Amino acid sequence: MIDLHCHLLPGVDDGARNLEEAVAMARMAIEEGITHAVLTPHFHQGIYDNQVSTLKPVFETFKEQLAESQIPLEIAVAGEVRISTDLLHLLPAGNVPFIGSIDDTPVMLLELPYSHIPPGTDNLLNWLHKNNVKTMIAHPERNREIISNPSAIKQLKLGGTMFQLTVGSFSEMFGEKVRDTAETLLLDGYADIVATDAHRIDKRPPTVKAGLDAISALVGPDIMKRLSFDTPKAISQVLF
Ligand SMILES: [Fe+2]
Repeated sequence: MIDLHCHLLPGVDDGARNLEEAVAMARMAIEEGITHAVLTPHFHQGIYDNQVSTLKPVFETFKEQLAESQIPLEIAVAGEVRISTDLLHLLPAGNVPFIGSIDDTPVMLLELPYSHIPPGTDNLLNWLHKNNVKTMIAHPERNREIISNPSAIKQLKLGGTMFQLTVGSFSEMFGEKVRDTAETLLLDGYADIVATDAHRIDKRPPTVKAGLDAISALVGPDIMKRLSFDTPKAISQVLF
């Protein structure tokens, strides 16, 4: 599997607390069959004030530690960006990370609040598209408005936004309602890729085997491979 969403970078958000935990999570990822990972700390103004420039040294230290520990996980650093009007000035200022690109268009991983889809989200996504950014929304299956009405994302999909589902949602890491919503979105064709969204070794670890098996059982091994390997690989060429 190629994982385009995980919080392994130590001490920069609510993911790995320190280098030791980050290394343990990387080891677990390898054991689970994950070979490449894009680390995506939160970019959420006022909550996690991460910047592309300040993450680089933390990333380099982690990368060196992986080599020293002989853990063959290939990593790159990007971020998970909170959807907000802050993007209107962050994007022109160059302080937004991209998880890769499609047809030379950079791909931004975006996070909705858990409660609802904020009014104006479609306009903001369209503005990003007009500014040469491809958008991908993480874990729609955990948003309460989408849980109540999965087709709420139809207009966003038609507007060109991609969707990334969390593998653990399929193995009930987040309960039955989230699992049911993930299954509905997958079967209705809304899933472009899947990722771990791993946070900590004891809470939301990078375990994927059960979730990938559940996806295979629903849509077959070819689509499971496309979601977890082929499409993520095409996006994350920086890793290869
Ligand atoms: Fe995340």
